[in-house]
Amino acid sequence: MQDMSWVIVGGASGLGALLAEMAAEAGARAVGIIDIDGAAAEAALAPARTKGLTTAFAACDIRRAPACNAAFAEVAGALGRVDTLVNSAAIYPRRPTLGVTDEDWDLSNAINIKGTYHMMVAAIAHMRTQEPRGHIRGRIVNITSVDAFKAHPNNIHYAATKAAVVSLTRSVADHVAPDGILVNSVAPAGMATEKARQAGFLPELAKASPLGRGALPREIAEWVLVAGGPKNTYMTGENIIVSGGYIYA
Ligand SMILES: NC(=O)c1ccc[n+]([C@@H]2O[C@H](COP(=O)([O-])OP(=O)(O)OC[C@H]3O[C@@H](n4cnc5c(N)ncnc54)[C@H](O)[C@@H]3O)[C@@H](O)[C@H]2O)c1
Repeated sequence: MQDMSWVIVGGASGLGALLAEMAAEAGARAVGIIDIDGAAAEAALAPARTKGLTTAFAACDIRRAPACNAAFAEVAGALGRVDTLVNSAAIYPRRPTLGVTDEDWDLSNAINIKGTYHMMVAAIAHMRTQEPRGHIRGRIVNITSVDAFKAHPNNIHYAATKAAVVSLTRSVADHVAPDGILVNSVAPAGMATEKARQAGFLPELAKASPLGRGALPREIAEWVLVAGGPKNTYMTGENIIVSGGYIYA
């Protein structure tokens, strides 16, 4: 991780905040967060600051492209080079399978699909201007979900957005492979972030796991660090499922 600079969209809480901390622990040079929640993002950057890393934050609602471009430019301007972008921002409200409204669809699509797309576009424009290190100009890791591959009650629109992000990952990976930019995704099963605890679905998922428990966020984050870190020099367009055997693909 030495000398790397990470930008985490959705880094104010949960998995994203943990990634900001773990990237710093692993020796990153700089960490940036883009999120709608400024106060939480400042707290999430504290471990990196304590270690003396360069840090940056931009407030952004990722639903619209101009805001995403401006936020990425602000953070990239402060950090200099951006080696890795992680897209962790998403919402996962439960709704009855046949009761998803237009408003529900529009909100989840706008944040989970379009926001991820806009941030990839912004990062790629920046990464293309960078000198490659070895063969690699940059890496992108999108957070998807096992729900992209499994029927789950009251979760239909969220699952559809995550399936869309698996698809976006492949298409964008193919498009930017000649630039030396690697694009992958990581699909967790239920993990015990604060938001997931509040949503109340973790006990049910733990029961359905052959390992008999849900994941600790750290057990998922390790795979994000691998996909976005220096050891990944040849994997692109893949979706890494980390489900403790909840699904096999
Ligand atoms: N927790 C789980 O069980 C679980 C399982 C599978 C996949 N995931 C995925 O992992 C990722 C992280 O989940 P988490 O549990 O850490 O969630 P979280 O709610 O703790 O973190 C999501 C972050 O996204 C930010 N965000 C939300 N809407 C935004 C917007 N419009 N613009 C900018 N930022 C916005 C929030 O402020 C928050 O900081 C998500 O992509 C989620 O779908 C979570």
